[in-house]
Amino acid sequence: MSKALILGTGSCLPQKTLTNAELEQIVDTSDQWITSRTGIKTRRISGEGEENFRLATLAGQRALEMAGLSPLALDMIIVATLSPHKIMPSTACFVQAELGATNAFAYDINAACTGFTYGLDLASKYIQSQPEMKVLVIGSETLSTRVDWKDRNTCVLFGDGAGAAVLGGSEDGRGVLGSKLHSDGRLWNLLHMDGPESQNPELQGSDWEGALIRMNGSDIFKQAVRAMDDVVVELLEQQQLTIEDIDLVIPHQANIRILNKLQQRLNIPDDKLFINVDKYGNTSAASIPIALDEANKQGRVKENDLVLLCTFGAGLTWASLLMRW
Ligand code: UT7
Repeated sequence: MSKALILGTGSCLPQKTLTNAELEQIVDTSDQWITSRTGIKTRRISGEGEENFRLATLAGQRALEMAGLSPLALDMIIVATLSPHKIMPSTACFVQAELGATNAFAYDINAACTGFTYGLDLASKYIQSQPEMKVLVIGSETLSTRVDWKDRNTCVLFGDGAGAAVLGGSEDGRGVLGSKLHSDGRLWNLLHMDGPESQNPELQGSDWEGALIRMNGSDIFKQAVRAMDDVVVELLEQQQLTIEDIDLVIPHQANIRILNKLQQRLNIPDDKLFINVDKYGNTSAASIPIALDEANKQGRVKENDLVLLCTFGAGLTWASLLMRW
């Protein structure tokens, strides 16, 4: 059976870097606290001309260039985001227009930090049944527009950026081998966005301003470690593999302490765990595709390598996905 193979990757980070020292001027925090509790040193913040869809488009363009494909070759564009350019239409439709990918249908998915991995899984299922398809999957966020800059519990954690992968059919055994996806909506309130809800007769236009991220950090921390550990074990068992068989693990970049705990629990050697949370913070749906693109460009993944993604986010949602590069 055909498999969905990544043909190219790309990413786009905003120009502006926000350091921990600069955050000390905004909220009651310190470089020492942020570094020791999260591992984050800097994050990127989008500015003028760096709307979500523009970052997404550039990441997508770069992935297409690496794949040697024209935008016209695309059949489908999926943008995973929790900070869309507008609620309607989808950010994916803006990307489709910017790219000139007129043969592609396009839509967004929202599975928070798990969105890109859900998107890859979706693309993989399309390509399995229609191997001639070319699908662009993008994770793109401008979280700086959704963060409460007065809340030190959250504003130090998040960053902006976009990452992308183009997929097509492969017959040589390489590509997506399997995935495990989970959600638990009962725990939605651990990590969510404030703001108006879908039924409220009093809604004013101004109510939509300030729909900001709220998080119970310590509960999310514990859930993230357990869920990512479980979902990796589940996928490895399904694939009859062990962690020693894996060449590179690319986890969602939320917090270095979460990654360290995951590494201990799964026995992942240092050189098989990709980490860039220090540079970009938590970019939600963009975190894995940015890391994937960096790993690719740094030569950390070679043809036929087994690459394992694992992620966790609001919803709650969590997932793992295995591919042969
Ligand atoms: O993508 C998935 C979504 N998010 C995550 O994965 C994040 C998961 N959670 C975390 O990363 C961690 O829970 C945090 C980094 C958010 C917090 O670390 P923690 O070790 O769980 O700290 P805590 O929430 O237990 O807070 C400890 C203290 C509190 O002070 P008190 O109440 O003990 O006096 C906080 O007010 O640290 C305080 N604090 C801060 N201090 C300085 C919280 N944020 C800050 C800050 N600077 N930025």
